[in-house]
Amino acid sequence: MLKVILALTLIGLAGSAQAALDIEVLARTCNNCHGVNGVSVGASMPSIGGLPRDYLKTVMKQWKYDERGAATMNRIVKGFTDDEIDALAAHFAKKPWTPVPQKSPLAAKGKSVISENCEDCHGATGSDPDEDAPKINGQWAKYMELELEKYREEEFKMPHRKMKKTARKMKPADVPAAAHYFGAQGK
Ligand code: HEC
Ligand code: HEC
Repeated sequence: MLKVILALTLIGLAGSAQAALDIEVLARTCNNCHGVNGVSVGASMPSIGGLPRDYLKTVMKQWKYDERGAATMNRIVKGFTDDEIDALAAHFAKKPWTPVPQKSPLAAKGKSVISENCEDCHGATGSDPDEDAPKINGQWAKYMELELEKYREEEFKMPHRKMKKTARKMKPADVPAAAHYFGAQGK
């Protein structure tokens, strides 16, 4: 009996080691676009390392089940099981959030926009967000501008109603200013 239990335990261990390995391999396929450890080096690609696990999980599942619009990610996550998505979310949530502060003359103009409309949920610099929001301090400004335009577009499927409503109230010129303000923040 003991032998059987031992054998079963070993099979179990081998199984989980295999699964752990597969997540490393799967996560490496994200590097091309999101950078090593989820720190992006391309202005229109978001960094994902260190974002909250629930946020990562939620957006990937929304893409998988066609509840959220996207140009690229919807196609990528369609091939994953829910368990793989959970494991990828856990994997990237464990990495440190690494802001890439970008200097911009627009950033100063964004400050008043932020304190009036965004600070409550994202924190003054974007590093202290509500539970369901990602960190955006030192996120790529170009990427954030594109995302804000998606929230602003009535037809574009973005399920977070409050973020959509807030973005749609912004004046057009405030969009790049807000994106560059958050993009310039290191902490
Ligand atoms: C071919 C490039 C490409 C690859 C490969 C890729 N992504 Fe993405 N990712 C994008 C783009 C582009 C966006 C912005 C949304 C969109 O337009 O699809 C994005 C957005 C995201 C976001 C949202 C980030 C945020 O701040 O809201 C997450 C999470 C994400 N990707 C996870 C992953 C994971 C995990 C992998 C690997 C399994 C991966 N991506 C592979 C291009 C890619
Ligand atoms: C009511 C709370 C709330 C307010 C106010 C708010 N946000 Fe958000 N924001 C969120 C949440 C939650 C998300 C993630 C939503 C989702 O899952 O699509 C988000 C997402 C974002 C994103 C996308 C980040 C990414 O990584 O893809 C940007 C950029 C952003 N907000 C900027 C702003 C700006 C600029 C303002 C002010 C004009 C603002 N937000 C106001 C809660 C808020």
